Amino acid sequence: MIKKAIIPAAGYGTRGLPITKVLPKEMFPIGLKPAIHYVVEEAIESGIEQILMIVSKKKNMIVDYFDESLELEAFLERENKHHLIELVPVPAIPIHYIRQPYAKGLGDAIRLGKSFIGDEPFAVLLPDDIMLSRIEPALKQLINQFSKYGKTIIGVKEVEESKLKHYGVISGEEKTKGLIKLDNIVEKPKSNPPSNCAVIGRYIFTPGLLSVLENKSTSVGAGGEFQLTDAIKDLLFMDDCYGKVVSGRRYDIGINEDYINLINEIERSNKKID
Ligand code: G1P
Repeated sequence: MIKKAIIPAAGYGTRGLPITKVLPKEMFPIGLKPAIHYVVEEAIESGIEQILMIVSKKKNMIVDYFDESLELEAFLERENKHHLIELVPVPAIPIHYIRQPYAKGLGDAIRLGKSFIGDEPFAVLLPDDIMLSRIEPALKQLINQFSKYGKTIIGVKEVEESKLKHYGVISGEEKTKGLIKLDNIVEKPKSNPPSNCAVIGRYIFTPGLLSVLENKSTSVGAGGEFQLTDAIKDLLFMDDCYGKVVSGRRYDIGINEDYINLINEIERSNKKID
């Protein structure tokens, strides 16, 4: 039902300086795979059939990573290392790319996906957030809710009060367990957050969001950027939107402590598989 996803990966990654000057944070290694590989896998496991990545000038490494690599494969063949060919990443679905000329914010990045999306509901996955779930991929959990309600669904999770200022924070009325009908969303509240439920970087949008983004294309929100959260706020006046408490562990790789915990967790689970 939800076949297309946008993965915005055009930001400067300033929280990760100095390394992000040359290494996009989406390419931070987690085990032997870069972070973005996990996000693409989550999308595919959730039934997504096509991805649009929004990249920028400094992100060619991402494009190269998912590209065919005939030279490398020929080398492995020649050297009798056929068994390694399956490790060369080639995504099972088409990945398209578009460049965001200026890092003007998440709202601006998603807006660039208009012609890719057309008139269908679509998913957005933010690659800073790595979701690990034993039961069902985080995005799939949102897609399941979308098939029941047909409305915009935003993945949320409770976070410690001191961390709410880093995220979009929602409030609303709990309709069924873990499903909240939104009445407000605030980007990175400096004080008085409306709840302890933070947006985790997984969304299902109805195509109406794109018209809202189009109309807001010059607006400036928190941090001087064109915020996706501000467009969601406008959407709330037009239609019902829901927050879904997603099960699974969430790691924000922009936060050093989360990144290290994620590496350790992947390390532990690889050992169990061995
Ligand atoms: C973005 C969104 C924010 C969300 C967060 C999740 O912020 O604007 O609402 O909570 O991702 O990681 P950013 O991380 O780009 O500052």
